[in-house]
Amino acid sequence: MTQTITIRRPDDWHLHLRDGAMLRAVLPETTRHFARAIIMPNLVPPVVTGAQAAAYRQRILDALPQGSDFAPLMTLYLTEETDPHDVAAAHASGLVHAVKLYPAGATTNSASGVANFDKVRPVLERMAEIGLPLCVHGEVTDPQIDIFDREAVFIDRVLDPIRRATPGLRVVMEHITTSDAVSYARAAGPDLAATITTHHLVINRNHILAGGIRPHYYCLPVAKREVHRLALRAAATSGEARFFLGTDSAPHTDANKLLPCGCAGCFTASNTLSILAQVFETEDALDRLEGFTSLNGPAFYGLPANTAKVTLERSGATYPSHIETADGPVTVFDPGFALDWKVL
Ligand code: DOR
Ligand code: ZN
Repeated sequence: MTQTITIRRPDDWHLHLRDGAMLRAVLPETTRHFARAIIMPNLVPPVVTGAQAAAYRQRILDALPQGSDFAPLMTLYLTEETDPHDVAAAHASGLVHAVKLYPAGATTNSASGVANFDKVRPVLERMAEIGLPLCVHGEVTDPQIDIFDREAVFIDRVLDPIRRATPGLRVVMEHITTSDAVSYARAAGPDLAATITTHHLVINRNHILAGGIRPHYYCLPVAKREVHRLALRAAATSGEARFFLGTDSAPHTDANKLLPCGCAGCFTASNTLSILAQVFETEDALDRLEGFTSLNGPAFYGLPANTAKVTLERSGATYPSHIETADGPVTVFDPGFALDWKVL
């Protein structure tokens, strides 16, 4: 039986760090194991311009633990007023690695997102020209559509039309949750990739709702039926280059999770690597863990893979139940099983 695995240092291709006290508290949880992360721009107010991204990047660098060489890869929040020239300049300077599309009202701090997709055509066309990826939160916001169907309907109504109208646009389907998304990604060429979170490999909707409601398992897109979780596990462990890790680790204080109308988000930064090793071992795919966490993402984003390594040892991992922040505790995702793999 394998006792240790050594892989290139992983990257997180979808991460929420927030700002201020929350940023300072959660950043070390990511920098401990990850070399780089694509930083989500859904702050209040959102990170829309290159200048705002540069300032946010500096706040992240200022909050880094002593000696950390973690690299935040910045994104811009797409609005109907986004200036294509500003996007292109921010990309050309090396600051910005993607633009994030939130359908207006789809999730946390998405009010400034896009309602009329025609209005962002000039930006998308410019991005296709310069090869800058669009990271997509793929859910429709139509209240008539059942929340468990919103990803599949988004693919038909929004994503596929955008991709057909914008040849060459490079797209990342973020945090996919359905077999529909897996199939759509597989049918496309190398312009399309998909990130998969740690928690969507572990929980289905029963974990949220059966035997009592579990707010710490509530996120968006919400976890779906078991058949979808199994499709995600098959995709993540397949070795296909189009699938890679984006944790969507999204800290909210317990006070904001445990409300009559609680926030969406699972905080997985602290134990993601141990959970993934367990998932990949269960699927008899430990040899494919490195591709998912450390190789496929940089290849899509046109960046070199990390040269540093991390080693995991079969010796049992522990993790804190909460991260303390000046705003109150943040609960760490509980996968519901013991973790056999410890990151050394
Ligand atoms: O669960 C989620 N939390 N999904 C998102 O799309 C946003 C994120 C957040 O910012 O809290
Ligand atoms: Zn997210």
